Amino acid sequence: MFEQELAFANELADEAGRIGMSFFGGAFDVREKADKTPVTEADLAIEAMVRRGLRGRFPNDAVLGEEAGLEGSSNRRWIVDPIDGTANFADGVQVWGTLIALAIDEVPVVGVVSAPALGERYEAARGSGARLNGEPIHVSPADRVDRASVLYADVRDWFEGPHAEAFADLVTGARRARGFGDFWGHMLVARGSADVMLEPELATWDWAALWVIVEEAGGRVSTFEGKPPSHGSSVLTTNGILHDEIVGRLMHAAGSARG
Ligand code: IPD
Ligand code: CA
Ligand code: CA
Repeated sequence: MFEQELAFANELADEAGRIGMSFFGGAFDVREKADKTPVTEADLAIEAMVRRGLRGRFPNDAVLGEEAGLEGSSNRRWIVDPIDGTANFADGVQVWGTLIALAIDEVPVVGVVSAPALGERYEAARGSGARLNGEPIHVSPADRVDRASVLYADVRDWFEGPHAEAFADLVTGARRARGFGDFWGHMLVARGSADVMLEPELATWDWAALWVIVEEAGGRVSTFEGKPPSHGSSVLTTNGILHDEIVGRLMHAAGSARG
């Protein structure tokens, strides 16, 4: 299912990679947006190219992009983060990628994550499994937190708030804990290189493509409360086996913190 859409998303990702790599490591404009996050010339050029491509190939579909918002009202909606990890891109760190998803009735069914500076292309369509550079990937078999590698993005997200204590317990008890943010932490879970990734707040374009890939690799994706992600919600990605335990720990601790 969705073979044509997945193939076209990969074509768009190829072109996005050419554009991104032509800027990466060189001199380019970086601007601060109203939300204080950076945007570069490359983000804008990639999103404009993806929108042009989709308009030509699937003119009836809607497109939601981080930089230019929503166009169209179809229940088939493409969701685009032209560069996820823009701060890395601007700092010359290789962990950045273009995220392209297709959602039908709000449920992502196709996901492509293209990280050309890492040489990594992750892709999945519902029912067809997940692949990294064309090879099938699967989540890990880790069945206990003390055997798990737990990832997060920015450690400062966890110093206070309702989940601070659960996070401290989790990383203390884990086999490893590392700050590997943006799409990459979630893709490390999808390919079995890590077991848990937590982020307190992500936009739709941050999680849409990841969701399909992680689930098709055998993992699970939800909010910290175990619900489907939504715009601005928390996102927990796991190998599936550990999911309920992590949700339980986060909810229990949040409940106690609220009194
Ligand atoms: C950022 C990444 C990061 C998340 C931030 C986002 P950007 O996206 O998705 O993982 O923690 O909230 O802003 O700006 O690099 O596309
Ligand atoms: Ca992003
Ligand atoms: Ca972005």
